Order: sequence, then structure tokens, then C-alpha cells
Amino acid sequence: MSRLSVITLNKSILWSKDVALRQKCRPIDVENAEELAFAQSLIREMFITLYTDPSGVALAAPQIGALLQMVVINYEDKDVNEYRIMALINPKITSLSDETNEEQEICLSVSNFSGKVIRSNSVEVEAFDQHGSPIKFTAEGFFARVVQHEVDHLSGILCVDKVEKDKVNYIQEFPERNIEHVMRRLGLKKRD
Ligand code: NI
Repeated sequence: MSRLSVITLNKSILWSKDVALRQKCRPIDVENAEELAFAQSLIREMFITLYTDPSGVALAAPQIGALLQMVVINYEDKDVNEYRIMALINPKITSLSDETNEEQEICLSVSNFSGKVIRSNSVEVEAFDQHGSPIKFTAEGFFARVVQHEVDHLSGILCVDKVEKDKVNYIQEFPERNIEHVMRRLGLKKRD
């Protein structure tokens, strides 16, 4: 199924032209129990939305129309052989490495478009977890790219804004979309 169809089926993901994707998101008051509970219910919605696209690795709250500083991440990090699953509330990048790399980047809210984006190799991050507890970590490589992409969403910045004009390319399918990947994500066995 093309990515376009997936997004059209899921009404909760907004289009890149939608105003929500271009707004600055406000932080969540993690000291406020009611607000934290709301944030947790939203985290659930964000994971459900993320799962509608088997090649999606992360999602930011404005992508489901919520102008709040929240990000969910869920993918298999093959570099370190780890399944990375996390929710970040009020994530802040406190430090970016000077060393950068340029890789193809895709976004669930931007259909049939891809391009190479320059990102820092590593970033220092401060955030709150899903329980409202402060966390700090270093993200490197692809993980650093994912965090930078998602934190940009919270300021209304899309990866398309960072692609050099002559490096734009249009795609029909995600490059990594294949049936084995889909079946693995669905917890189903391959046919013998
Ligand atoms: Ni995105």
C-alpha cells in the first residue's frame, strides 16, 4: 500500500499543509496530575497512530493535531541490537555535535517526498518520561537523527524545510517497506 493511502485512511494524521504542523507546541506541566494524565492518554493515541504505518519510527504530537511538546519513538535499532521504545515529554536538545551527516529522511506527515537532510551525529537530550520523571540521554547516529527530526516538529519545522532544493526526490514507497518488515512488526510469521 502506498504511503499516501495509509495517511488518507488515518484521519488523525494531518497533512503537512495543515496549520497544526506549523505551530510552536507548548510544554506540558508535568507537576499537574490532570495534565500529565491527559499527556499519557495522548501518548497512547500517538503510538496507535504510529503503528498504522509499519515503517514509521517516531511521531510528534502536532502530527495528531495536538500542539503539545510530546514525542513517541518506536523502532528496532539494529546498530546496537536494541528495540527502542520511548515517550518524551518536553524534550530539549541541550547540545548538538559539530560533526554532521547527510541522510535520506522521511516524515509520516509529508506524502511521497523524501530528501537528504544534514543532522548532527550526536545530541544531548533532556526531557521527562511518560511518568513525568526527568531523564537525560545522549543519542547518536540514526537515533540522533530521529530525535532532531521530532524535536523540530515541536517548533513547526518539517524535514522538507531542511532539504536542499536540488536534492529533493519523490518516492512511491518507503525504501524500507517490505513484507518481512510488516509481518515482523505485526508479530506474524513469514509464510514457509
Ligand atoms: Ni516527521
